[in-house]
Amino acid sequence: MQPPVPVIRPRRLRQSVPLRRLVAETRLHPAELVLPVFVREGIDAPQAISAMPGVVQHTLESLLEVAREAVAAGIGGLMVFGVPVDKDGRGSGADDPDGILNVALRRLADEVGDDIVVMADLCLDEFTDHGHCGVLDERGRVDNDATLERYAAMGLAQARAGAEVLGLSGMMDGQVAYVREALDAEGFTDTVILAYSAKYTSGLYGPFREAVQSSLQGDRATYQQDPANGTEALRELELDIAEGADMVMVKPAMPHLDIVAAAAAMSPVPVAAYQISGEYSMIEAAAANGWIERERAVMESLLNIRRAGAQVILTYYALEAAALLR
Ligand code: PBG
Repeated sequence: MQPPVPVIRPRRLRQSVPLRRLVAETRLHPAELVLPVFVREGIDAPQAISAMPGVVQHTLESLLEVAREAVAAGIGGLMVFGVPVDKDGRGSGADDPDGILNVALRRLADEVGDDIVVMADLCLDEFTDHGHCGVLDERGRVDNDATLERYAAMGLAQARAGAEVLGLSGMMDGQVAYVREALDAEGFTDTVILAYSAKYTSGLYGPFREAVQSSLQGDRATYQQDPANGTEALRELELDIAEGADMVMVKPAMPHLDIVAAAAAMSPVPVAAYQISGEYSMIEAAAANGWIERERAVMESLLNIRRAGAQVILTYYALEAAALLR
């Protein structure tokens, strides 16, 4: 007997560029990309980050230049991280109106705030001398509730500086409700909260720690999630949504696309995903060795994060991707 000739041929729709373009289920657009940027105090020229080729620590001036480029490229937002000169136990620079992050936010809000969404990382780790995302108790453990007070002060300083979106990335219990209440009490009812709801502890954050000159010893496993857990991620998402998060985020992105998809399926608010530093560095390192096709890998990675269900993608490739999408 002859094997049957297929009648149904899915390949038909793949035979030409125009056909493939016509039936593509997912498309990327610059407006849904957010560029994370680092601004460092006390430097007079941008500084390279060795583990992230092509990414720099900005001066205030070079930050404004890249912000204007991002506007011209039609990118949706900027997520701003500050790298202060002085760090201390409570992260004093975080809520100091003259601290580098708040100064940068004010400049960005003034100069590009009408054209792009200015987002602020709301977390203490860039500002603490121990590198943890919160303040420590007398036994050296991260003190959840004492940290909430610091986040409220930091959030208010960022809102006053003009940040439109606060990215709560510290993974403290109750942080969304606490910061929301503090903002509302001071009249910042329109300040948007982007909650890093499902943020996993990961071996992929190393390049970021170089970028912010973190002095962290050990890890963040007592507050960031265990990569073994998915149900717990849904619980974190539900809690943040109930506490009033306007958007939620999953991070890192590529290793946790199942969680991105699960978040997209359950969330009534927009879902973002963060393609983090280590994801960027892996692509760059493999491409530098000639092992992968760099541009294809970059665009494929972003498309797949989008396909999994992220409506917004934070990526160090935002500018390059926007240019390739033109
Ligand atoms: C916390 C924060 C981190 C990142 C974003 N916000 C560091 C951490 O959780 O250790 C990581 C981003 C990246 O790796 O690109 N301030």
